[in-house]
Amino acid sequence: MAQQAGRVAVSGTSVFYGLIERAKKYSDVVNMGRGDLDLDTPLHIRKAVADALLADEPPAAWPTTGDPALRQAIARRARALNGLDVDPETEVLVTNGGQEAVFLIVQAAVGPGDEVLAPDPNYNTYADAITFAGATRVLVPTKVGEDFRIDPERVRAAITPRSRALLMVSPNNPTANVIAPDVVRALVAIAEEHDLMILADDTYDRFLYDGAEHLSPGSLPGAEARTLTINTASKTYAMTGWRLGWITGPADWIRQATRLKEGTSGATSVVAQRAALAALSGPQEIVAEMHETYKRRRRITTDALDRTGLRYGKPLGGQFVYVDLSPAGVSSVDLANRLLDEHHILMYPGAGFGTAWGSYVRITFLQPEEVLADCLRKIEGVLHDMTARGA
Ligand SMILES: Cc1ncc(COP(=O)(O)O)c(C=O)c1O
Repeated sequence: MAQQAGRVAVSGTSVFYGLIERAKKYSDVVNMGRGDLDLDTPLHIRKAVADALLADEPPAAWPTTGDPALRQAIARRARALNGLDVDPETEVLVTNGGQEAVFLIVQAAVGPGDEVLAPDPNYNTYADAITFAGATRVLVPTKVGEDFRIDPERVRAAITPRSRALLMVSPNNPTANVIAPDVVRALVAIAEEHDLMILADDTYDRFLYDGAEHLSPGSLPGAEARTLTINTASKTYAMTGWRLGWITGPADWIRQATRLKEGTSGATSVVAQRAALAALSGPQEIVAEMHETYKRRRRITTDALDRTGLRYGKPLGGQFVYVDLSPAGVSSVDLANRLLDEHHILMYPGAGFGTAWGSYVRITFLQPEEVLADCLRKIEGVLHDMTARGA
């Protein structure tokens, strides 16, 4: 009998990739699903890369951990913006986007039989990475009525003798919740009490709203020894396609993650590393400008949602809103299919974030204001139609 493909189990991601596949039928799809930024990578970053590549031959390879100059820039940023004190020699690993960083920290931190405490819902790649590691995700519920805040007592109640790591994604994807500093402190105390690793994801740390404050768990005294933190140039510098992320954390775990990376992708592309060096060492005003852009788009999105009467968690960070469709009585997969087929709008149904989220959708606001407003009107129209028909 012939061998069969399909030994790799993926969960939520397949819901999204199924939709992306269907969207290929249309040439004019508006992306309100995947987090690919519509803004251009700032010109100074692209110019710096071109200049660097023309000026001299890039090295055949940098160490698997990454360009030493980039690791220094990452360590400087981690200290300046998030209070993380890391040694660029031993405590930084440059990766192929945040995505590889997610995979590597999970594989480095947990193995078969271990449990990872993860707020539900969460960025779906963690589910896949935890499954690949042979570990189990133990979901800690968050609720729309509580703006998807994480309750430390619910985390505590989910701990078992197998608990090995606690995932803290803040701002969270898809809920856009930001873990308040006092809650970060409470969660770190729980991790210390139960000897858990902390997997911290700071991907959206530059995009906060309504006065929300980001506290990176690894910056708390004593927490650095148990915290692996990931970040990426993708969102902050509109560099999703360049594939450049990084991990910071204790040297032993970084060594472990580096060993895994050596056996999979090896060092990250020198081109992407040059771009990230230019991004991190160049002018930062561009980040503030993008932040202003997202603030306006967020307002347009929440104003439109307020007109529908649907519930959503107050978006305190990131680039999306997570909306509860249950008052309208429609399934998120049906809505996503209709939007795609009737209006060529690609939007992610909550079903991709886990079985509990079939009546939710994530709306990303990664479109210019007029396009966004137009899409939101169409979404409102389809919802209205589906509700009227009792679909
Ligand atoms: C929470 C979170 N972590 C990590 C990533 C991966 O980022 P990258 O685009 O750099 O691979 C994403 C991407 O959307 C994300 O939302």
